[in-house]
Amino acid sequence: MTYEELQNAPLCLSGRQLTKVFVNGKVSKTAVDHVDFDFHQGEVISIVGESGSGKTTLSKMLLGLLNVTSGTIYFKGEERKIRTMAQRRAYWNGIQAIFQDPFSSYNIFHKIDAVLDDCINMRYGRHIDKQKREDLKTEACSFVNLKYAELTNKYPFELSGGQMQRLMIARIFLLKPQILLADEPTSMIDACSRATILDMLLKLRDETGMTVIFITHDIGLAYYISDTVYIMEHGKFVESGSADEVILHPKAAYTKRLISDVPKIHEEWNLDDVFTGEE
Ligand SMILES: Nc1ncnc2c1ncn2[C@@H]1O[C@H](COP(=O)(O)OP(=O)(O)O)[C@@H](O)[C@H]1O
Ligand SMILES: [Mg+2]
Repeated sequence: MTYEELQNAPLCLSGRQLTKVFVNGKVSKTAVDHVDFDFHQGEVISIVGESGSGKTTLSKMLLGLLNVTSGTIYFKGEERKIRTMAQRRAYWNGIQAIFQDPFSSYNIFHKIDAVLDDCINMRYGRHIDKQKREDLKTEACSFVNLKYAELTNKYPFELSGGQMQRLMIARIFLLKPQILLADEPTSMIDACSRATILDMLLKLRDETGMTVIFITHDIGLAYYISDTVYIMEHGKFVESGSADEVILHPKAAYTKRLISDVPKIHEEWNLDDVFTGEE
């Protein structure tokens, strides 16, 4: 879909005047400062800013892991309600996250088979028949170029970093959330498997129509991967728009500075020549 088509797609997640103030004794810190945003179905959005700009605080509010100080979050056009555990669970069916450290996403005492079974239980219930279950697991693994038969008896710590990241994407493939939020998902791995991971996430978006929110300090990565870019400085969005508009024709001084820190923005992210699809 083109950028214009995406802007007319149904709303998935929106925020109005969303704010987070941390108060410690007499000191208060506004980490997210009255931000407005509209994320659409199937849109890939990057939120870009330097360390301390408020990205993680914003993602925790979006995930419902941190209370909002003021402002409102809308999920599919309606005010998000996560007061009760049942409401919270329902919301978490719609939004999933992947974090920097893939190890933290797994219970280390669970074999990979059990990790995938948990996803199937969450998405389809416990009573799905055995053959269908095996088919889903095989399909999810092959989607990320992993061989299910070789993994089934292993523990997460027996995998390489790249395999672990791919297993994380296999989980998302099974869970099929409407929104995937990825906070600096690729910083732990080398450039080649990084390209593989990013391409798998984009393929997943193409197949499922999920909305993908990337949180990153890397404006080059944002250009490579996203339809829409929001630039965050000191808790505020200083600029937003299509990736081309924001990065090729930046208006805010802060955006210009972020771009000037990446001298070869186009060359660096032309990954076709390093992408092999395998580690
Ligand atoms: N729990 C907290 N208590 C007080 N200040 C916090 C807390 N979490 C984050 N901050 C502050 O909020 C600002 C934004 O932090 P953060 O959201 O982690 O930024 P980023 O992810 O962009 O690096 C920083 O100044 C940080 O020190
Ligand atoms: Mg952060």
